[in-house]
Amino acid sequence: MKELRTQVVIIGAGPAGLLLGHLLQREGIDNIVLERRSREYIEKRVRAGVIEYGIAKLIEDAGAGERMKREGLVHHGVELRFDHTSHRIPLSELADGKPITVYGQQEVVKDLVALRLDSGAPLLFESEVTAVEGLTTDGPCVEVEGVDGKVRISCEFVAGCDGTFGVANKAIPKDVVRRYERTYPFSWLGILAEAAPATEELIYCRHENGFALYSLRSPTLSRLYLGVRPEETLDQWSDERIWDELNTRLATDEMPEINQGPIIERGITAMRSIVVEPMRFGRLLLAGDAAHIVPPTGAKGMNLALADVRELFHALLAQLRSNDPRLIDTYSSTCLERVWRAEEFSTYMTQMLHPNHEDDFENGVQMARLRQAINSREAATVLARNYVDLNSL
Ligand code: FAD
Ligand code: DHB
Repeated sequence: MKELRTQVVIIGAGPAGLLLGHLLQREGIDNIVLERRSREYIEKRVRAGVIEYGIAKLIEDAGAGERMKREGLVHHGVELRFDHTSHRIPLSELADGKPITVYGQQEVVKDLVALRLDSGAPLLFESEVTAVEGLTTDGPCVEVEGVDGKVRISCEFVAGCDGTFGVANKAIPKDVVRRYERTYPFSWLGILAEAAPATEELIYCRHENGFALYSLRSPTLSRLYLGVRPEETLDQWSDERIWDELNTRLATDEMPEINQGPIIERGITAMRSIVVEPMRFGRLLLAGDAAHIVPPTGAKGMNLALADVRELFHALLAQLRSNDPRLIDTYSSTCLERVWRAEEFSTYMTQMLHPNHEDDFENGVQMARLRQAINSREAATVLARNYVDLNSL
């Protein structure tokens, strides 16, 4: 078996693994990023779209924000829509002037992949980590199966940035790890359509039939979501049915119809919350979806992943440059505080906007929450600050 050595092995080339690799490489810390999928696959995977104020700044400060600054859409508000009426939450006005940036996750991924390949630092596609070993020793290592066969890489630290279904979180022994989990009785059907958005700002909508979200990617690309039952599949949703249902849920007197166009991407995502505690085991540090999942209603998943990376980068730098373990030792507790705040906010948004077809008491509570969010400046301020910059509360 071929043998390699580096300082940090990074498993996964999602936003978390790619940003960590880039930040470490800029500081001269050797690292290898391993990704089981192809470059084409990860660059086409359509997912998140909303970037928090502080996270946009992190991307820019890392030197990875040039195209995001040019093409990203800066938004100062969102709409809450219910009872066929829209109510604007003036995000920036309520959150110290801070905006959000609407820029697709796959664009962030493309920008980071390009930077990495330009730098010449190793990013190995179609290379799957199959084993993570020696985490409680000074010399951990991973085994990789790639296009050139099996490779063994020894290192000082392993960063598990490989999402929920990766190998990293499974490498923490069962008697050490605690996994908190909640599933929700709905999924999201998401589409990307070649249609000019009929809205300037995002619309989060609660309708008796279910949730709907109007988002966008550019002046010619709309990104829309429908809350659907968890057992539903894409073949039950023809284009016509999707557009009809979006129109039914989103229609108001001012916007009776949304702009339609060819659907170029579609998928159904189950809604879950997961928290893995602790986020560190010996020489393994988890970041992003490998450690936590939030339901997407709060737009927090990618933001949390990159916020973990900000902590992890500083912790690894202190350890590897100055032999100072303090930030590594507090990494898990520091991140988990923010993770639970994000879980709380994502649960709040999810429960407020997805009607419950079996429980009218719950529906009454949802409507009370929505009215409070639009009628109380204090409630709107908490929502806005959580949405725009989770660190600001
Ligand atoms: P991932 O992006 O999942 O990357 C992990 C990588 O590891 C993958 O490329 C995977 O192939 C690789 N991998 C796995 N196992 C191995 C292995 N054994 N060896 C090598 N490689 C491996 N978040 C937001 O902030 N805002 C939003 O608006 C938002 N909207 C969303 C909408 C939808 C429909 C979905 C599905 C998600 C949304 N999210 C949102 C969440 C966000 O997409 C994720 O939280 C984000 O992808 C997490 O990044 P990550 O780098 O931790 O993990
Ligand atoms: C998008 C996704 C989200 O989960 C969200 O809350 C807002 C926007 C998007 O894909 O644009």
